[in-house]
Amino acid sequence: MAFREIDIKQLQLNPFKAIGDEWMLITAGDEKKVNTMTASWGGMGVLWGENVATVYIRPQRYTREFVDANGCFSLSFFDGYKKQLGVLGTVSGRDRDKIGDVDFHVTYLDGVPAFEEARLVLIAEKLYVDRIRPECFLDKSIDEKHYPGRDHHLVYIARIKKVYVRD
Ligand SMILES: Cc1cc2nc3c(=O)[nH]c(=O)nc-3n(C[C@H](O)[C@H](O)[C@H](O)COP(=O)(O)O)c2cc1C
Repeated sequence: MAFREIDIKQLQLNPFKAIGDEWMLITAGDEKKVNTMTASWGGMGVLWGENVATVYIRPQRYTREFVDANGCFSLSFFDGYKKQLGVLGTVSGRDRDKIGDVDFHVTYLDGVPAFEEARLVLIAEKLYVDRIRPECFLDKSIDEKHYPGRDHHLVYIARIKKVYVRD
């Protein structure tokens, strides 16, 4: 089944449920090499007059190298597939062909890799990257709880260029 572009204003999505409970895949790469990782932290909203998505990627993730090397990445959302998303969020693409392992299929939308199995794909263009700074925590307990390894997330803010759904 083919993907169909919709206007972002037609998007029916509860980000708390879709990201927090159902999870998404952050995917980047080119025709030669692609990597993906599961994410359950992130956001969507409006900034600088743009519709944006924000994702948080720890520096050691292999996916980070692909997001850094490309101007765009995709966010894929699914109906179910929790087992597969669990694997893609546990195994590193550095160690295995995890996409092949879960039998997911890469498709390219506007030249950006995403997944045929997705019900919704957002194509996002990077606008801004920074790293969570420990000295900026007003509630220091979050730093202690989430970053014992001092691997503070990179924060990517990206313009949502296109929204694709599958009927
Ligand atoms: C449910 C779930 C949510 C996750 N959310 C994030 C996240 O938001 N940011 C992050 O850096 N890692 C997150 N991870 C961990 C990465 O998906 C995981 O380390 C993955 O194996 C990285 O793969 P890679 O090394 O191929 O990039 C999550 C894992 C799971 C299972």
